[in-house]
Amino acid sequence: MGQKVTKAVFPVAGMGTRFLPATKSIPKEILTLVDRPLIQYAIDEARAAGITEFIFVTSRGKGALEDYFDHAPELESSLQKSGKSELLSIVKNTNMESGAIAYIRQHKALGLGHAVWCARRLIGDEPFAVILPDDVITGDVPCLKQMVDAYEETGGCMVSAMEVSRDKTSAYGILGVREESGPMFSVSEMVEKPAPGEAPSNMAVIGRYILTPQVLSNLDEMKKGAGGEIQLTDAIATEIREGRDVYGYQFSGQRFDCGSKAGYLQATVAFGLAREELRDEFAAYLDQISAAKKAAE
Ligand code: G1P
Repeated sequence: MGQKVTKAVFPVAGMGTRFLPATKSIPKEILTLVDRPLIQYAIDEARAAGITEFIFVTSRGKGALEDYFDHAPELESSLQKSGKSELLSIVKNTNMESGAIAYIRQHKALGLGHAVWCARRLIGDEPFAVILPDDVITGDVPCLKQMVDAYEETGGCMVSAMEVSRDKTSAYGILGVREESGPMFSVSEMVEKPAPGEAPSNMAVIGRYILTPQVLSNLDEMKKGAGGEIQLTDAIATEIREGRDVYGYQFSGQRFDCGSKAGYLQATVAFGLAREELRDEFAAYLDQISAAKKAAE
């Protein structure tokens, strides 16, 4: 029932103040887990879900992102000459086909809804995905692919969802759960960053969305919501109010909040341990520090 989703928006205009001073000169999306920048994980997930057009909503100081996805002929030929074929293929895998990637500037930091709205002309009249690269999700089937498969049956809008502890609701968009069927449920309401006492549930929106172009029209109103920002959550909630379907999708996989220092460090440990060539040495080191910590207690 859902149309094929081929475009994805990556809102990457945020200043990344939580990672200052690093983000004074590098975009936070270039911070690495082991040896790959956060943005690479987001792009790989989009590709695995069949996305072929990548729209970056950027801001000042994000030039490193454009360079990252550009071809690097000198580097490639030097790797080729020195016979480093494995590294060469890793580098080549970051290249984007000409015309597959577009950059739009968000001139003012007016919120996530506004950032997505900035991409409206490139999206046109078709459903599209939104990926927040801060949310890194691992799993056998990439999260967006799980959603795209489910979306084929449903159409409408779909957001990825995960239960969080009650005291954390004010950090997320929170969903009212109407009717569950498997990992999917129909959403009765959506509230951006409610206090625990006002949250309709503890089911949070995680940074993967499949949205209809109607959401972009809803954003035309430029209504400010939580934190005085133009919120994507509010534009999706308008869909529910107007009687159109919105679904939550409880993905299988593990999510790391790489927008926070603690989450980023946890992801670093998990991704380090997942690498065969690092595992033994890294695990031994973790054992050693945890034993030393216990001994000190
Ligand atoms: C954004 C969204 C929020 C969502 C969250 C997921 O908030 O506004 O609804 O739950 O991403 O990571 P942010 O983390 O940018 O404040």
